[in-house]
Amino acid sequence: MLQVPKLPVAHLFLVMFVTACGASPHSLELPQAQAASLSEEEMSWLDSKAPTEPFDMVTNDTPHGDRFLRQRAQPVVPGDQALDALISRMRATVDKEQGVGIAAPQIGVSRRLVLVQRQDKAEMPFEAYLNPKVVSRSEETVVGWEGCLSVPAGYGRVERARTIRIEYEQLDGTHQSDDVTDWTARIFLHELDHLDGILFIDRMTPDALPLMPKDEYRAMRKREKEEEAEQAPPVEDPTLAPSAP
Ligand code: NI
Repeated sequence: MLQVPKLPVAHLFLVMFVTACGASPHSLELPQAQAASLSEEEMSWLDSKAPTEPFDMVTNDTPHGDRFLRQRAQPVVPGDQALDALISRMRATVDKEQGVGIAAPQIGVSRRLVLVQRQDKAEMPFEAYLNPKVVSRSEETVVGWEGCLSVPAGYGRVERARTIRIEYEQLDGTHQSDDVTDWTARIFLHELDHLDGILFIDRMTPDALPLMPKDEYRAMRKREKEEEAEQAPPVEDPTLAPSAP
């Protein structure tokens, strides 16, 4: 039976907690689980493919896949040499799927690492973010279409914060933060949800259901682009990207 601690003990814990947090105001908040290097099992899973060979996506249309995607992923250790293998496999997979972002759990590794295509930067590089988290978000929200490489059923409209601040670690262990907005913020919010076992369909309001089948969505986007091209000179609107995070 669970015992409720007597007040002085609880108070002591609270003091220790506050002291521990106050000791390192500039560091990232401690993850809930202790970060550990990739296990032998995870490494042998990654080594089952060559660095340039894509993995099959873990998808939510099987009980096993859905269970896997619903886990809270574990933190990574920035200096862990095995992360190079994880990143190269994620990159090969997101390239093959023509996605704009991917989270490690989507290739079967339940770890807190995402790749995001920075369409807001010149050259639109894919960048790796270790142990990322959202530290603030705008009250202003936008509703936009999303799909997911792990949700074969289709696309849906999701309300997300327009602007967010993220904190993350880099491979060399340095801590960084970044402010992102609009489409890039949406990709980050979508990918970071994956690390907590959340899919975009969980964020949809009942009136936004059911999902639009993927081929129907692509046809709709194509029509919209054609109509825009007829009416106005072409504009760069990344939210019209056909890809799924
Ligand atoms: Ni996704």
